[in-house]
Amino acid sequence: MSAQTDVKDLGVLTGPVMIFGGPYSNLQATRALLQTANRLGLSASQLICTGDAVAYCADTEATVRLLRDAGVHWIQGNCEASLGNRIDDCGCGFEEGSSCAILSDSWYSYADRTISDDSRAWLRTLPAQLRFSLNGRRIQVVHGAADQINRFVFESTPQDEKQRQLDLAQADVLIGGHCGLPFGQAWGSGAWLNAGVIGMPANDGTRNGWYMLLIPDAERLKVSWHRLNYAATEAVDAMRFAGLPTGYQDALLSGLWPNIDILPAAEQSQRGQPLQLAPLLI
Ligand SMILES: [Fe+2]
Repeated sequence: MSAQTDVKDLGVLTGPVMIFGGPYSNLQATRALLQTANRLGLSASQLICTGDAVAYCADTEATVRLLRDAGVHWIQGNCEASLGNRIDDCGCGFEEGSSCAILSDSWYSYADRTISDDSRAWLRTLPAQLRFSLNGRRIQVVHGAADQINRFVFESTPQDEKQRQLDLAQADVLIGGHCGLPFGQAWGSGAWLNAGVIGMPANDGTRNGWYMLLIPDAERLKVSWHRLNYAATEAVDAMRFAGLPTGYQDALLSGLWPNIDILPAAEQSQRGQPLQLAPLLI
């Protein structure tokens, strides 16, 4: 996909800010996320979704509606871009013939059948990227990377590539989504953060999704990652009732992805090991 220039500026935020990615049509996880935000006293204006609200799970339309009605900030993932523009595949960037590509044929056609025209039009109105300032940091929210909506950026992606993306965005901090795994890295001139996703486990052998909080801390920002508990069995029941393939149903219960084609060797080696993410001061 080509470079994007559709960047919405939210101005100066005061925090805390909750970041979450990948609702993936998982209505139960999305409800749990919004309930958690409410419990923490956060309003919708303090919530940012990094995209892919629609994907593997059963509740396409209800998940879009819930997030839209909640009024959260939200950028297009490749799934929003594809469904919004009636493109005939998910745009994830999977290699042709790979397990991910074969599975995506099934869930994407289901999502394409079960989204309303009104929601499809709404997805087209979402910005590609967001920028805001928090405690003096220039922060840009992207789906994959600054130059490509479906670029996979992992913890193991070289720092030089991450810095290149920061330079493109003219930002101090980039917040990405798309890859499905939570992580954070800071170096002298910048930081890359990923909140993980709420709609699918982190391939760590647990059922939890993940979200991230940004909280001003004196002159710095404290970044913390948190597990999201939700009713995974209800999400699986809905997928079974919808006739979706079993691979991602099993993943919601086992905490393990049905395939790891997209993962670099470093992330593949972490499969099944419960994640522990320490807070980061940036
Ligand atoms: Fe994505």
